Amino acid sequence: MSKDVIIACDFHGKEELLSFLDKFTEEKPFLKIGMELFYAAGPDIVRELKARGHKIFLDLKLHDIPNTVKKAMAVLSNLDVDLCNVHAAGTIAMMEAAKEGLTHPDGTRPLLIAVTQLTSTSEERMQNDLLISQPLDEVVMHYAKNTKAAGLDGVVCSPLEAGKVKAVCGKDFLTITPGVRFADGDKGDQVRITTPEKARELGSDYIVVGRPITQAADPVAAYRRCVSEFLGGEKA
Ligand code: C5P
Repeated sequence: MSKDVIIACDFHGKEELLSFLDKFTEEKPFLKIGMELFYAAGPDIVRELKARGHKIFLDLKLHDIPNTVKKAMAVLSNLDVDLCNVHAAGTIAMMEAAKEGLTHPDGTRPLLIAVTQLTSTSEERMQNDLLISQPLDEVVMHYAKNTKAAGLDGVVCSPLEAGKVKAVCGKDFLTITPGVRFADGDKGDQVRITTPEKARELGSDYIVVGRPITQAADPVAAYRRCVSEFLGGEKA
């Protein structure tokens, strides 16, 4: 798949989401559905959005024993999503099982990526709560290498880590990066942020953008600005 902007659909329920999407009469944006919406609206919301022609990143971050993750992924693969994810902390065996469960009998499957360390986890918390004593960026790169060893397609990371992940795992290893803000926009609760243009320069393959689009006075204009800044001359 080619580079794209993914809208984080952090809405409470289906009505709110559909009234947001109804504003898009010309484009079919790539959408991220997270736990809140999936648990509130159920798998049917994914089927409905696919039927409307959207690509879907199902962001459920699975993390359990390999057998359970494999079976859960087999169920999710029937939803025909385009991208889904697990926690790399579940181990290489768990990620391999996830990939196996996700793969259709004909050998095709959605893209599968892993979360390394959540950006909400500080180095101090990782060391004190999880007893992982190495520096955070070493842990992120180690988890990225494990993800690649398990045969997955890429990781979720900060745009600021994208270049290093590519240097360690290869240029075709995907980097999906949240934490994107317009240069003249509100940061909200995000700390380590970059603009769409900077994310492109840093090598992100997909940027995940929520509030700068969903809370904008004109969401369609904000989406178009994001696409144009991120894809530059490549599309737009
Ligand atoms: O509104 P905003 O652009 O901050 O939304 C970013 C989205 O990306 C949210 O759905 C958030 O949960 C998700 N995310 C993130 N940082 C991560 C992983 C996911 O912001 N490390």
